[in-house]
Amino acid sequence: MIFYFSGTGNSKWVAEQIADSQKSKLMPIGDEINTSCSYHLEPGELLGFVFPVYSWGPPQIVLDFIDKMKIDTLDGRPDYLFFACTCGDDVGYTDRVMKSAFERKGWRLDSCFSVQMPNTYVLLPFFDVDDHDLEQSKLRKAVKKVEKINTILGARSNSFAMLVTSIPWIKTFLIRPLFNQSLKKVDSKYWVTDDCIECGLCAKACPVHNIEMKNGKPAWRCDGSCIGCLGCYHRCPKHAIQNGKITLKRGQYYHK
Ligand SMILES: Cc1cc2nc3c(=O)[nH]c(=O)nc-3n(C[C@H](O)[C@H](O)[C@H](O)COP(=O)(O)O)c2cc1C
Repeated sequence: MIFYFSGTGNSKWVAEQIADSQKSKLMPIGDEINTSCSYHLEPGELLGFVFPVYSWGPPQIVLDFIDKMKIDTLDGRPDYLFFACTCGDDVGYTDRVMKSAFERKGWRLDSCFSVQMPNTYVLLPFFDVDDHDLEQSKLRKAVKKVEKINTILGARSNSFAMLVTSIPWIKTFLIRPLFNQSLKKVDSKYWVTDDCIECGLCAKACPVHNIEMKNGKPAWRCDGSCIGCLGCYHRCPKHAIQNGKITLKRGQYYHK
């Protein structure tokens, strides 16, 4: 069984490739978190999580979901547990954060993977989507990486190689908590330009159903449920969704 969270489609694509190859059920965390979060696992069945890296760690919704989950194996543990995260650049100590979440449940991690994909974070100075060549090169390499992941998962073997670069501890354990505070208010800064064609794709793209269409235009709930994934911004076919002023000069990317 594979649970995924995805704002702009990268992690969804990875999750789909894995679920297809491993013949696993695929479940969106944004929907599942509103249920009892109780699941049946067959003996030998793998349990996996696929998600994007946000500020060098997993999105909070992934951690909240894991905390809430119950599985019905005899000892309450999965037979084989993995996670795969997608990132634009590097993952910091995402693996340490995930291992702690699993340890709280008494689960042992069997494998973890990182897959570099086109970047989607655009809300700070000097951050933008990748240029076309880099985007395409990352997507080509990702196909091979996911094939390797599927070979490892198929054999139920172990792999813990993650894409870590400089100062991971500072990024994950000092910067990330501050960044997570700023994510809580992201949706209060969204606005829509006159280019909006009222297509509703933004509302459909939101993985936590945080957008309502009011008089044809998107309205964000601003009740703390926005994850800050930027799915609505990137999905807009007219670049009509803006977050503050910074996105007026930023590019868009959505995995097709
Ligand atoms: C809020 C936010 C924070 C991000 N932080 C990081 C990061 O710390 N490191 C990184 O390499 N990429 C980062 N990214 C880029 C995404 O991890 C990457 O583009 C991912 O593949 C997006 O996955 P998705 O399409 O499934 O949402 C961030 C993106 C967003 C929206």
